[in-house]
Amino acid sequence: MTDPLALDPVLSPEERSRLPYHDPDLSHEERYDAFVEHVHAGRKVEARDWMPDEYRNGVLRFVEMHANSELMGVLPEREWIMRAPTLKRKLALTAKVQDEVGHAQLLYRVAEDLGKPREQMLQDLLDGKTKFHNVFHYPTRSWGDVGIIAWLVDAAAIVAQQALRESSYGPYSRTMKKICWEESVHIMHGRDVIVTMMSGTHTQRGMVQEALDRWWGPLMQMHGPRSDRSKDRDLFWRIKAKTSEELRQEFLSIYVPRIRELGLEIPDPVLHYDEGAGRWEYSEPDWNELRTVVTGHGPMSQERLEFRRLHHAESAWVRATVLAAPVAAAA
Ligand SMILES: [Fe+2]
Ligand SMILES: [Fe+2]
Repeated sequence: MTDPLALDPVLSPEERSRLPYHDPDLSHEERYDAFVEHVHAGRKVEARDWMPDEYRNGVLRFVEMHANSELMGVLPEREWIMRAPTLKRKLALTAKVQDEVGHAQLLYRVAEDLGKPREQMLQDLLDGKTKFHNVFHYPTRSWGDVGIIAWLVDAAAIVAQQALRESSYGPYSRTMKKICWEESVHIMHGRDVIVTMMSGTHTQRGMVQEALDRWWGPLMQMHGPRSDRSKDRDLFWRIKAKTSEELRQEFLSIYVPRIRELGLEIPDPVLHYDEGAGRWEYSEPDWNELRTVVTGHGPMSQERLEFRRLHHAESAWVRATVLAAPVAAAA
């Protein structure tokens, strides 16, 4: 369980007001330099701190996409709640779906403090103006997909999310600590689904292998193309700590041996660890597919957005009722 104290800002508001970039006598440039120095010293930024616009917009864009991904990420899995093979699996999958929606709630709260109302973020998502992760634009064809998503998609995500616990933006880093606890349970659930199927019949093993064959490409694309560390502004501001390639290498180092141990075959003939170079070599992921998918042209992008739009419209009366309640009570 997360230590509740770990969720509080480290400095009191009074102490924070004495941070050099809060000094109103400084010029904008001097404040900017003091802010950069603060962040580069590994210290945290809090929601009410003065911050350069580039930093505010950078964190907002990053957290908003993360929140969108948590919210859209439940749609491929929810399709299987009614088709879960046992009551235990149904309960576990329902709990996971609830967790992911909870992650979206927590992250939209972090993002809205930076100046963009939650309603606007939801509207931009529904209008296709903002993005969500590539892996949530694909169909789920069998129960094998449920295992692969919970085990490997969540694993690829947690590699990135664990690094985000060190984010310079305090509210985000603390939220990620809570989220990472829950994500690690999702991985255990996914691994249990996969191990059970791989210990089962020939058909069950075939379902997992077929799901892995379809998901491997999107998984390798998930962290994004290699980028130049010196030009990456999210790294400069320490919103994130690792490059796309570092995350992909970490994912491969942890999961390739585990996938192979279960008797699964990874559909990439080039994939191997180069001892001399100290890194995994792999077939170049299809970056065109990644660009196409995240801009809303994936196999399920429009259908999933339409589903969200439908439910947003159907639940409008709940929002209207809840928001009207204080007015009604005051009248
Ligand atoms: Fe999540
Ligand atoms: Fe998860």
